[in-house]
Amino acid sequence: MNIRIGTEEDKRDIIGKYPYTKQVLGEDGYLVVAEENENIEAFAWAFVRKIPAPIDKSEMFVNVIETFEPKNQCKGIASELIKKLIELAKAQSLYQIRAYCDINNISSHKLWEKNNFTISPVKNQNGQILGSYVALLL
Ligand SMILES: CC(C)(COP(=O)(O)OP(=O)(O)OC[C@H]1O[C@@H](n2cnc3c(N)ncnc32)[C@H](O)[C@@H]1OP(=O)(O)O)[C@@H](O)C(=O)NCCC(=O)NCCS
Repeated sequence: MNIRIGTEEDKRDIIGKYPYTKQVLGEDGYLVVAEENENIEAFAWAFVRKIPAPIDKSEMFVNVIETFEPKNQCKGIASELIKKLIELAKAQSLYQIRAYCDINNISSHKLWEKNNFTISPVKNQNGQILGSYVALLL
């Protein structure tokens, strides 16, 4: 599996094959793909922003990470994508990497835990836990 930065053509291929990804793939940002035999088997898309808090630092926010085929899951592919994102974020001297996962998404929680991210569950006004922000201090 080759882990590399994705191109605009890769982005078009991913959206063509998996149309729902259009909603989570933005314009500016980092596309990282895992490719085998010229097929994109997994991808992540992340963007850089000022941290929306009263501190003068920037973060990478991972909007989406996915290993498409269930047969390819649990083989460490998404973890390799995360390693690549960490490398890119460090090269930009960013403060942290964050992402959000729905509370019912067990595999996503396990993925971030396995990669040493903190897990911070968030509640709505009724006290119901909706999901977790995950974060890695760089
Ligand atoms: C979450 C996801 C990206 C993980 O991808 P992956 O390539 O399997 O990741 P890794 O192999 O690095 O696995 C990380 C851990 O997740 C857990 N995991 C992954 N797939 C799982 C599954 N189907 N069921 C239960 N746990 C799973 C495992 O604990 C695994 O670690 P382990 O194999 O050492 O036990 C993948 O399951 C996926 O694409 N899910 C659908 C999309 C999604 O929910 N994305 C995250 C939110 S944007």
